[in-house]
Amino acid sequence: MGTDLLFVVGARPNFVKAAPLLRAVARRTGFGATLVHTGQHYDASLSELFFRDLELPLPDLRLEAGSGTHAEQTAAVMRGLEPILIERRPACVVVFGDVNSTLAASLTAAKLCLPVAHVEAGLRSFDPSMPEEINRRVTDCVSQLLFTTEPSGNENLAREGVPGERVHFVGNTMVDSLREALGAARKLRGRVLGDLGVEPGGYAVLTLHRPSNVDPPEALRGLATALTPIGERLPILFPAHPRTRGRLAATPDAAQALDAVPRLSIREPLPYLEFLGLMDGARLVLTDSGGIQEETTVLGVPCLTLRENTERPITVERGTNRLVGSDPRRIAAAALHSLAGERQPPPEPPPLWDGCAAERIAAVLSDVFTT
Ligand code: UD1
Repeated sequence: MGTDLLFVVGARPNFVKAAPLLRAVARRTGFGATLVHTGQHYDASLSELFFRDLELPLPDLRLEAGSGTHAEQTAAVMRGLEPILIERRPACVVVFGDVNSTLAASLTAAKLCLPVAHVEAGLRSFDPSMPEEINRRVTDCVSQLLFTTEPSGNENLAREGVPGERVHFVGNTMVDSLREALGAARKLRGRVLGDLGVEPGGYAVLTLHRPSNVDPPEALRGLATALTPIGERLPILFPAHPRTRGRLAATPDAAQALDAVPRLSIREPLPYLEFLGLMDGARLVLTDSGGIQEETTVLGVPCLTLRENTERPITVERGTNRLVGSDPRRIAAAALHSLAGERQPPPEPPPLWDGCAAERIAAVLSDVFTT
């Protein structure tokens, strides 16, 4: 075994970003790879089924950190990872995105003086109330190698004084996964849409999981108001994150308000390929996810982001994504406007969103860490 890289993943979007890189690294000689799953996401629908669809190797080590407050979850990952890093002393710890597992792993590695490589560095929402914004900033601060997905990432890091030689603009490994999986997702699509009782181009998809959108009961009631005129036009499929389902179970009046929305169907989270096929065939997507803003840009599907800001401005510049905040009237008006227009062809993809980002990262890792 050659130089050992240790990859840390914990939550659904991490798996999508890591899969192509693990394959690109495996294709190169001179590397050993250890995959650590923190257990931040543990439900089969958020974890195991993603490993299957993305053809990820099973984790070498599992930390079983589970859920909790931010401090509890971050601490559980740090405590689990520290002895592994002390024992193995990998050449580099590779982390992805902006979840609590990313922050915990990068801090633990940095304090042991191990190099950290951050995939999806430099994104900034400039909204300190988002836990992800804190995770991104801290992770970038302690990383030696910063792999960026879009020009705004390069600009943000330069403004923060990160030396240019640490920053590598490589594109988006989430898009590598999408391009690899789209053929299979389209093959499955007929069955998936048939099971859901919808026609290609004849439905909207909704995903919501951010605390600001699902924790306050009034936010969920406002959502029901926004969705009503949309449901009058077309069916809305809502594969709901467990956190969102939990909030609905805890706030019966909000659940009732959503129940009353015409043709809104709340479902279990879908595995990667099924969800990709569902997005690809949608007339409209409403979301507060970061990754879905990017995926809809590549697919050319109109996306309304239920947030006031985005750390992924390229998706807005490309014209597929619109920020509509949380005001029900604004959301409904934007949705009806989008439904009234013609569906546009997909825009030119952002630079380097070409399916080769993981290869570029593997090439840099190879330059830096193999002799
Ligand atoms: C996390 C990330 C978020 C990312 C999202 C993708 C952080 C701060 N947030 O949010 O950036 O967009 O993943 O899905 O890291 N739960 C389950 N089963 C699971 C996992 C979670 O039931 O397998 C429930 C638990 O009630 C848990 C809650 O969901 O407390 C929140 O989970 P958590 O991992 O803290 O954050 P996410 O909302 O998933």
